[in-house]
Amino acid sequence: MYPTDRPRRLRTDGIRPLVSESSLSASDLVAPVFVDATADERVPIESMPGHERVPVDEAVARVEEVRETGVEAVILFGIPESKDARGTRAYADDGVVQRAIRRIADGTDAYVVGDVCLCEYTDHGHCGVVETGAEADPTLTVRNDETLELLAETAVSQADAGADMVAPSAMTDGQVGAIRAALDDAGHEDVALMSYAAKYESAFYGPFRDAADGAPAFGDRRHYQMDPANRREALREARIDAEEGADVLMVKPGLPYLDIVSDLRREFDRPIAAYNVSGEYAMLHAAAEKGWLDLEAVAHESLVSLKRAGADLIVTYFAEDLADRL
Ligand code: PBG
Repeated sequence: MYPTDRPRRLRTDGIRPLVSESSLSASDLVAPVFVDATADERVPIESMPGHERVPVDEAVARVEEVRETGVEAVILFGIPESKDARGTRAYADDGVVQRAIRRIADGTDAYVVGDVCLCEYTDHGHCGVVETGAEADPTLTVRNDETLELLAETAVSQADAGADMVAPSAMTDGQVGAIRAALDDAGHEDVALMSYAAKYESAFYGPFRDAADGAPAFGDRRHYQMDPANRREALREARIDAEEGADVLMVKPGLPYLDIVSDLRREFDRPIAAYNVSGEYAMLHAAAEKGWLDLEAVAHESLVSLKRAGADLIVTYFAEDLADRL
């Protein structure tokens, strides 16, 4: 008639912290920062309240704002002054991200991660060089091996500028190996590599593509990003990246893909990262704005859930707001 097992005994205020299985701290978080070569002042990003694109001159100030909240790591995305078919400004020594990294590395103690991809830099918005005629025929897609060289150049130029870590997100086969080899050749053995190992073709990237102006002009990314229906395939992707030398394996998006975070945690002994993406941020903000959700509570719960699933670190637009309160 009465229960013999009473889990509620462990839920008093006194003992809850002692038996808590997951925790979240500012040191787990990486804050995205957008640097914009076309802006001469900060420009708010409409679909991501609280975020802005900043000119290179403001990059150090922006990073210091992040660090004041206790978050020490930033990942940089760039909006270049011009775009072309081969994304030339992604790997230019005086590219917007390279200039920003130089200043941040010189002027702050932040841990600086460079996102390595071409989609913000190509005029067609794809993550690599596209096949001739792809505009008319959506079955024609990114040229894999030709793109590898450009990604490697991008990573090396970011490392030359002073990046502590590079994070390839183009979902090009072989990108981790190509980048690791190029970094090592250039004397950057100590620059870490975090691969977007399981990156899905997700509609949750919508606000980011507005923010970074990187939506594909034609077609979509399903020929290189993963099918959201697939789970086993994430292990394959992660295994390849681990073998090619990724130091950290990332899953993206975060919340809709907790099973993948959990799988990778069990399968690998390297740190696992989760990317709590722009759409996850925007939807909570939109609901909170309507008074339907408590923003701080749902943001915290989202990130704790990513930790519980097995993430060691989380890239999130909530980094500053949450760290301030942790
Ligand atoms: C690629 C990249 C994207 C995001 C991070 N790196 C865009 C994409 O794949 O379309 C999306 C991040 C987000 O939605 O927050 N450079």
